[in-house]
Amino acid sequence: MAVAVLMTADGREKTALSRRYAAEWQSARKAGQTPDIGTAAPPLFPARPDEPALLDPRDVPHRKPGTAEGQIALLHAVAHIELNAVDLHWDIIARFTDTKLPIGFYDDWVKSADEESKHFNLMCDCLEGMGSHYGALPAHAGMWRAAEDTTGDLMGRLAVVPMVLEARGLDVTPGMIKIFRQAKLKDAVAALEIIYAEEVHHVAYGSKWFHFLCGRHDLDPTGVFHDLVRKYFHSQLKPPFNEEKRAEAGIPPDFYWPLAQDVSQARR
Ligand SMILES: [Fe+2]
Ligand SMILES: [Fe+2]
Repeated sequence: MAVAVLMTADGREKTALSRRYAAEWQSARKAGQTPDIGTAAPPLFPARPDEPALLDPRDVPHRKPGTAEGQIALLHAVAHIELNAVDLHWDIIARFTDTKLPIGFYDDWVKSADEESKHFNLMCDCLEGMGSHYGALPAHAGMWRAAEDTTGDLMGRLAVVPMVLEARGLDVTPGMIKIFRQAKLKDAVAALEIIYAEEVHHVAYGSKWFHFLCGRHDLDPTGVFHDLVRKYFHSQLKPPFNEEKRAEAGIPPDFYWPLAQDVSQARR
């Protein structure tokens, strides 16, 4: 199921399949079943639509968020992140089947993949309501980099994807909600509020399974986290951090502050 989602190129089709499989998984689990995980050969890169064109982040034009053009660009960027997130969650399900994990690991990522699919659809609805669509603008290439770099390292994947990249979403989403509230774009505000509420759980699942694996291997979580982020994440973390939501998601300050750029300046 995970590989079928990864191999579907069109965004709306990918998320429809993702939601259908998630519903099947969840109804089996509610009926008391423990589906067989099996093994899979996920592709190194998931299938993606012909558009958007993927550009180096430096070449993606920046637009002012106070303009309709800028607001569309922002929603387009979020849609792109959500589509990547759908693939990232199905990829973690398919990629690491050699590691024996409790069934709850799969429950968590299936639920996350389902939510990311909903988020992508919400962003597409907003874009279409504003006369645009996903694919109309160029998007960041290289968002799959974190997945590529950690294909052989489940703890590295957990450290970089949910605990760094998705935690970053918690830092920046309130500012985005403010932009759309000022622009009186109610649908975008409502959609981003759903995203903001649900992303906390994805970060929390990352922290939960990272700590689980540290416990299994008798490792110090903080030190291992720092080592893995330095190994696989190619820049520093950017303050300001949303300390409250990070705490709620099980990411304590000593995990991220030592990895932050210009710590002394940011704290001044
Ligand atoms: Fe999301
Ligand atoms: Fe997420």
